[in-house]
Amino acid sequence: MSGDLQLNKIFGAGLAAALVIVGVRVGVDALYHTDAPEKPGYFVDVPEEAAGGGATAEVELLPDWGTVLPAADQAAGQKAFAKCVSCHNVASGGADMTGPGLWGIVGRPLAAHAGFAYSDAMVAHKAEAPNWTYDELYGFLSSPSKHIKGTKMAFAGIKNKDEKINLIAYLHAQGSAGYAIPAPDASRQPGAAPAADAPAEGAADVAPVSTPPSNPATTPAGDPAPAN
Ligand code: HEC
Repeated sequence: MSGDLQLNKIFGAGLAAALVIVGVRVGVDALYHTDAPEKPGYFVDVPEEAAGGGATAEVELLPDWGTVLPAADQAAGQKAFAKCVSCHNVASGGADMTGPGLWGIVGRPLAAHAGFAYSDAMVAHKAEAPNWTYDELYGFLSSPSKHIKGTKMAFAGIKNKDEKINLIAYLHAQGSAGYAIPAPDASRQPGAAPAADAPAEGAADVAPVSTPPSNPATTPAGDPAPAN
């Protein structure tokens, strides 16, 4: 029957096409031998957050240490230190663990605990930040791996601002009491107007400027420094 024959032809053509496809695929696989990817999943090289957006997101008013430290809750800070005890000891002369001993850490030079093998990243960061200032600790504890790319401190970081402040106040009391607490800094107060209206020295009331700047030519680069 011609109808059946027709069907057979169609079927046959389809089969041939399928075989060709399979054959081509096998051939292609042979040509472009694809192994399992080196890294599981896809590695998407995402560029750093769009410069502008990222930068603004990072802007956070650092604590005004002179105000917040004296008022900090050290007991709460000690509790927060529970997040650190699996790797750190804060006792005087305490042994290094996974992380270095932290007695006297506030104000201490970076990567300075004798005998501890710091990461290259931590050592290199000393060029940028020689000491563990309050700001430096705050930044590091917020996100260790962001603050010092390549640090081997495997800790996600602490989000809560008060928790960080309390923890730093606690650490300050563990061997760092000699490291001064700075005077309150109005420019760090929430809502502080940046620099513009910060009085220079004494906050003498400045008369509204109605006169043009007097003899601008005389002091172009500031007064010469006093003899000693
Ligand atoms: C999983 C282990 C681990 C945890 C948890 C951890 N750390 Fe660390 N920490 C380390 C390691 C390891 C280093 C050394 C990092 C390097 O060399 O890059 C380090 C380094 C540090 C340093 C720098 C020390 C120095 O001598 O310069 C500070 C400060 C610090 N940690 C504070 C803390 C605090 C505070 C916590 C708790 C909130 C904490 N760490 C939690 C492992 C840890």
